[in-house]
Amino acid sequence: MKKQDVLISGKAKTVYSTEDPDKLIMHFRNDTSAFDGEKIEQLDRKGMVNNRVNAFIMQKLEQAGIPTQFEKLLSDDEVLVKRLDMIPVECVVRNIAAGSIVRRLGLDDGMELNPPTFEFFLKNDALHDPMINDFHIRTFGWASDDEVARMKELTFKVNDILSKLFRDAGLLLVDYKLEFGRDKDVVTLGDEFSPDGCRLWDAKTREKLDKDRFRQGLGGVVEAYEEVARRLGVELA
Ligand code: TMP
Ligand code: ASP
Repeated sequence: MKKQDVLISGKAKTVYSTEDPDKLIMHFRNDTSAFDGEKIEQLDRKGMVNNRVNAFIMQKLEQAGIPTQFEKLLSDDEVLVKRLDMIPVECVVRNIAAGSIVRRLGLDDGMELNPPTFEFFLKNDALHDPMINDFHIRTFGWASDDEVARMKELTFKVNDILSKLFRDAGLLLVDYKLEFGRDKDVVTLGDEFSPDGCRLWDAKTREKLDKDRFRQGLGGVVEAYEEVARRLGVELA
């Protein structure tokens, strides 16, 4: 399968059409962005690590019954995926308080959230991904009520599967963001799952092993992502 036209060039990935109208190629670049694209840097090896980790996670989720867009790895930094009609909302589940919820609700960083909580955000950098609710999604027609229910159900199912997977690797899945799209009428997990879009802490020391290292200028960003891959047993190039 060969790349044709650039369909979307995002902050960290580029999506290409292929000769098959139902399949796309996603290229994981080394670009790393934070604060809605305000801070951008090239981090050597990041595209490869995220592509490999994403493929590993997506296959685990698929095996556990989550429909995903993953088809197959094509190269170190490219993956073949199903073409989805993307729903422009981000689904976030939080097991531990960190990031924006700490600021918004004045919580103690690191406090356990039991039961885990769920938030929707609108995918819109210019508006800084504002938090939205089910009624906004209905009023503005971003998704149907059935799709909203299914996105929540799948996002929590992913939490059960991945919290255990990471726990077995000595990692705490603090929070994460998922994006869904429609494959015909089937709500399907799209985008990526990598340390760029979740928070992962060492279970013992609570050391950050995710993009917060980049956001907070802690250094050792790709080294931390590689450590996550190593603990999961993901083979790297
Ligand atoms: P937040 O604490 O900034 O709201 O982010 C919650 C989680 O979702 C965190 O793991 C980062 C991820 N996330 C993204 O990857 N992209 C986004 O645009 C947003 C809003 C969150
Ligand atoms: N992914 C978003 C950005 O690049 C938000 C973030 O991860 O901080 O700005």
